[in-house]
Amino acid sequence: MQVQADTSLGTKLFLLRALKNPLRLGAVAPSSRHLGALLARYTIVDDFSPIIELGGGTGALTRALINTGLDPKLLYVIELDPALAAYLKSALPQVNVIHGNAAELDQILPPEVIGKVHRVVSGLPMINIPESIQRKVLESCFKIMAPGGAYLQYTYSPRSSIDAKAYNLKKKRLGTIFRNLPPATVWEYTKAV
Ligand SMILES: C[S@@+](CC[C@H](N)C(=O)[O-])C[C@H]1O[C@@H](n2cnc3c(N)ncnc32)[C@H](O)[C@@H]1O
Repeated sequence: MQVQADTSLGTKLFLLRALKNPLRLGAVAPSSRHLGALLARYTIVDDFSPIIELGGGTGALTRALINTGLDPKLLYVIELDPALAAYLKSALPQVNVIHGNAAELDQILPPEVIGKVHRVVSGLPMINIPESIQRKVLESCFKIMAPGGAYLQYTYSPRSSIDAKAYNLKKKRLGTIFRNLPPATVWEYTKAV
């Protein structure tokens, strides 16, 4: 299935919410399709496992995942901002949108999803998130993932925005996309044994 690119209404809404809460949004524009394509390549691992997206915004990455072939019913998008969550629900009704906090992922996901997730993909602005909340987000993600699962994060710094060692994780750089505003680097984190 293919979904249309975001409308100018979505882009305006993103800007308005970013002006209202710049630290929470952590970006000036939705992700480009080039970043979406790189993330989708590493996120879709099979045709049946649920995928979690943290920080859906106006759905730029959500659309890239669907347009790369992911069944929207397998996608669970968590968004903290009430206006953005409402927008996502109306713009992408096939997707499971949850208005909630990524730090409480293990409590807000439907029980049937828990333990079946192989990838969590995150657009959360980790650089602006206090260490104690980062820990809750990561702990909660690895609690709901299947063994061997990976957490993917993009960041606008060439460096990892997560101190992997502090959370007993291994990190791997998957690539940098310059055709994004601003350029973004994608990292993969897995449990260190
Ligand atoms: C950089 S934007 C990413 C938007 C979108 N994924 C994209 O690629 O265009 C970050 C998003 O994370 C959301 N967010 C921030 N903290 C959050 C949290 N604790 N739980 C869920 N969403 C959060 C913000 O409201 C915002 O929509």
